Amino acid sequence: MIELSPRALLVTGGCGFIGSNFVRYWLAQHPQSHVVVYDKLTYAGRKKNLADLWEDARLKLVVGDIGDLDLVRATCQQENIDLIVNFAAETHVDQSILGPLVFTDTNVRGTHVLLEVARELGLRLHHISTDEVYGHIRDDHQSVETDELAPRSPYAASKAAADQLVQAYAITYGLPVTITRGANNVGPYQYPEKAVPLFATNAILGEAIPVYGDGLQMRDYAHVHDHCTGIETVLLRGEIGEVYNVGTGREMTNLDMVDIVLDTLGKSHDLVRHVTDRPGHDRRYSMNVDKLRELGWQPKYDPREAVAEAAKWYANNRAWWEPIRNGEFREYYEKQYAERLAGSVR
Ligand code: NAD
Ligand code: DAU
Repeated sequence: MIELSPRALLVTGGCGFIGSNFVRYWLAQHPQSHVVVYDKLTYAGRKKNLADLWEDARLKLVVGDIGDLDLVRATCQQENIDLIVNFAAETHVDQSILGPLVFTDTNVRGTHVLLEVARELGLRLHHISTDEVYGHIRDDHQSVETDELAPRSPYAASKAAADQLVQAYAITYGLPVTITRGANNVGPYQYPEKAVPLFATNAILGEAIPVYGDGLQMRDYAHVHDHCTGIETVLLRGEIGEVYNVGTGREMTNLDMVDIVLDTLGKSHDLVRHVTDRPGHDRRYSMNVDKLRELGWQPKYDPREAVAEAAKWYANNRAWWEPIRNGEFREYYEKQYAERLAGSVR
């Protein structure tokens, strides 16, 4: 097996949750590397997610939109980039229901622009995708990489469109691409709109935990560290042109996830409220991750440990999330939950 070793990476979305964890992990593992974070710094992207690293000469930030072809091209040329790793995206399903158009702009057109630059300059591109592109699946099935895509939310549809563009560029132009499809990640620096950080921070604040519908939806809660090692494995040893699922391969219900969060934080289960469901809520995701395991990768955390570790991080890092929750997040929370919580049941 050939081990490829990219030296200069353009990490789009590197100030977000997974991107910032990846940049920290990559620089620690690959001391000879040079990383340019290219990020629009939307509400979900924060410079302070990499506060400990900005003094490092191997790391640079370019603030920009992945849809800006001239700036992406100029950055890649000036920095002698040999690999683009595309984390940049609008990522929240609920936000995609409230305001879907920006999801097409960034996730579809933005990815297309990166592909064009990669084609023009002869670069490799690795695209970060999601288990949501498979849609919700029946009880006994685990999605494999060759399954048909059947997305059901505006977010998932925009990610599926991006995957198909990436694969079309490989077929049509022979562009060297790889794709990873990640499960539901948890861990440090996840914006508190997502379920685990929302539930952990609400529990710490003694506020209600808004569970959508019956809470029996199934998700594979995977630690972000394992997603980063999975991506690294594909970058170094993955086959060009291939797709790899990244998760634990084991799912749990949202109610089980809530129990782990509350037990880890020593909080009462009386905080749980069942609220109006997410429209089109996917019932179950589950991926088979054997293809990635065959490259020698294995996850460090099982889903229970992943959720518990994430809850602990929020308990120990109030200084990171309190300013977010006290800032622009309040308006979103009000819009998304006030009516739901008013009509909630225990
Ligand atoms: P996030 O929302 O925390 O961060 C997204 C980052 O992208 C932010 O830094 C934001 O500023 C940046 N960004 C957004 N629009 C941009 C644009 N137009 N140009 C440049 N930068 C832009 O997201 P995340 O949870 O870290 O997800 C990262 C990637 O992983 C996404 O592609 C997402 O679809 C995928 N993914 C996420 C999960 C998960 O559980 N969070 C699971 C599987 C796959
Ligand atoms: O599965 C991978 C996907 O995981 C990623 O592609 C997305 O970028 C990421 O946001 C995440 O999507 P989800 O919609 O699964 O994540 P979220 O944390 O919003 O929700 C997890 C589950 O919890 C889901 O079944 C919905 C439920 N939920 C969520 C929120 C925010 C609730 O019950 N109540 C809530 O308030």
